[in-house]
Parts: sequence; C-alpha cells; structure tokens
Amino acid sequence: MTDLPSLETQFAARIDAAADLDALEACRIDLLGKKGQLTERMKTLGTLPVEERKAQGAALNLLKAAIEARLARRKDALATAALDAKLAADTVDVTLPARPVPEGRIHPISQTIDELVSIFGEMGFAVAEGPDIESDDYNFTRLNIPPEHPARQSHDTFYLVGKDGAQYGNVLRTHTSPVQVRTMLGQKPPIRVVAPGRTYRSDSDATHSPNFHQIEGLLVDRNSSMAHLKGCLVEFVRAFFEIPDLRYRFRPSYFPFTEPSAEMDIACTRGNGELKLGVGDDWLEILGCGMVNPKVLAMCGIDPAEYQGFAFGMGIERVAMLKYGIPDLRTFYEADLRWLKHYGFLAVDVPTLAGGLAR
Ligand code: DAH
Repeated sequence: MTDLPSLETQFAARIDAAADLDALEACRIDLLGKKGQLTERMKTLGTLPVEERKAQGAALNLLKAAIEARLARRKDALATAALDAKLAADTVDVTLPARPVPEGRIHPISQTIDELVSIFGEMGFAVAEGPDIESDDYNFTRLNIPPEHPARQSHDTFYLVGKDGAQYGNVLRTHTSPVQVRTMLGQKPPIRVVAPGRTYRSDSDATHSPNFHQIEGLLVDRNSSMAHLKGCLVEFVRAFFEIPDLRYRFRPSYFPFTEPSAEMDIACTRGNGELKLGVGDDWLEILGCGMVNPKVLAMCGIDPAEYQGFAFGMGIERVAMLKYGIPDLRTFYEADLRWLKHYGFLAVDVPTLAGGLAR
C-alpha cells in the first residue's frame, strides 16, 4: 500500500493539475469518496492495535484536512479562471460605432413635422389629430363650404363609395382644416392646436401628389387678433428657416373658412438655377391663414360674439422642399434608399429649438 506521504504528494499533484471542476470532483471521489483511498484506510483503523490506531488515525485526519483545503483552493482558482474567461469572451467594445443607427434615416417629412411641432409647441400649441377618412360635413360644410360652393371642385376630392356603389358622405380629407372643426366641437376655448397629417387630392404632377401632408393651426380665445396671427407666423417662419431677419409679406386672399384671409410669402432670390431664401425681390407663397370666419365658429359650437380665432394651413412637403432644397415632390414617395440617405436625417438628431432644428 502506498505510504501516506506519497499518497499526499500524488493527490496534491492531481488536484493542482485538475483542469476543470469535473476533474477536481473525480479526484475528490478517488480519495475521499465512499470507496476512496483515504476512506478505505480509515475503515482499516479498527483492526489496528490501540497505539498504532491513534497515530495512524491522527495522520489520516491530517492528510484529509490538508487535501480538503487543497481541493477548496483549487476550486476557487478554477471558478475565478472560469469567470475571467467568461468576462473576456463577453467583452463589448463600447467605443465601436453603433452600426444600426447611421444606416437608418428619418424621412424629411417626419423630420419636418417634428420641427413644426417643436416650434409651435414652444408657443404653447398642442398637437391635435383627425382621421384620414372624413365626413363631407367636417371637410367642407362646417368650414363654410356648402354643397354648391365652387371650392369643392377645386379640391379634386376623392369621394368614398360604399360596396353598393352609393355615397355615404365620406371623403378622403382634402386638407387638415376639418381637425379645426373636431377640435372646436370637442373642447372649450381657449384653444391652441396644430394638426399635422395626411391629406388627399386627385391630382398628380411634379408639384402635386394625390397623397400629401399639411399642418393646420388654430387658436381661439376672447381677444385674439390678426396682429397675434402675424406675430405667431413671423416667429414661426424665422425659426423654421433659421433666418432671423427673413423678409415676408402678407397678401390679401380668400378662403371660405377665414375672414379676412391672407397668404404669407417669404422673400427669395432666383438666379443661376439657385433659390436663396429670406432675401431678394422675389416672393414665395408658403401658407394660407386668416381670422376664423364667425360662421365657422358658430357651426362648431363656439359663440362668435364671445370668441374669435385665427387659423393657418400649409403644405409640409412644400416647406420641406424649400428648406432642404428638394427639387421634385414625387421623390418623397419613391422609397429610394439613395434618396433617403441623401435627404434623410439621423435618428439621434431630434429637432429642438434650443439644440437646432436640423443638422
Ligand atoms: N385648408 C387650406 C388648403 O388646403 C389651407 C388653409 C388656408 C388653412 C387658410 C387654414 C387657413 O386654416 O386659415 O388650401
């Protein structure tokens, strides 16, 4: 039988060389398990004479304690090594560029809507919404465009027909102005909302698309005036185009839902195939506006003797094209990735007035 010192040396070597927890456990079983070499020797102690048994027992116990301590140390070392290996394998280099972000782009229409909402939001306007399918009543009649009104023809309306071929008074909204109606019917003044969204007209060429976007603005209060309307819109165009001294003018115009009505133009220079905004002797129309027609207030449940309001509406593609120099309206809807890469925006650049609207 191997003597104790060589047994200890032999097992110490095995323990220190154990490459993993399984090898270590096998080693423990060989020595200390039910049929382990040390256990077997313990079993023979009873057969020894008393003195010898004492000495042998003490020696065996010492060896057992030493081996157990060594097993524990090796176990710790293996666990630490395993953790280190896992940490090393799981390492993430946080300084690497985040690949998915620069690949995707925010569409200029989404970007422009975010910018518009951000500017009007700073002025205290909340965002209102309405459905794309609108009733004839809200899209036209309550905006003072009665059934025989010529404005109905100029809107190139998509009228919706039922399965039976009959019309039930629904249209694809031709402008965002019906959101004015919904807002006035749904809440009490003071009202201050902007309503960006999809609009539809049966019209298609380089400057018209059957589906486009508008943003509507509405403010109703006891003493709102044309001066407030002007102040609000001048502030808006200067913030949006990021030209602090941008020149503008208001031209008298006509809309059935506003009285008086105006169109706002911004100054520009055209030449050498280039369009420069803000300065020059040429003018670019950018939006329609006016004081809400008292008839519209009344049809929307607001007493025109007590309240007055102003409204405005503009095409989102149009202002986006002007601001970002996008020459053809149709390209907005072609889903061409190269176009999007060129004209799109990074998702991390959220437009705010303080941080800059677009970079
Ligand atoms: N709804 C008009 C359009 O589609 C735009 C518009 C003009 C809206 C004047 C308004 C407004 O709220 O006051 O052409």
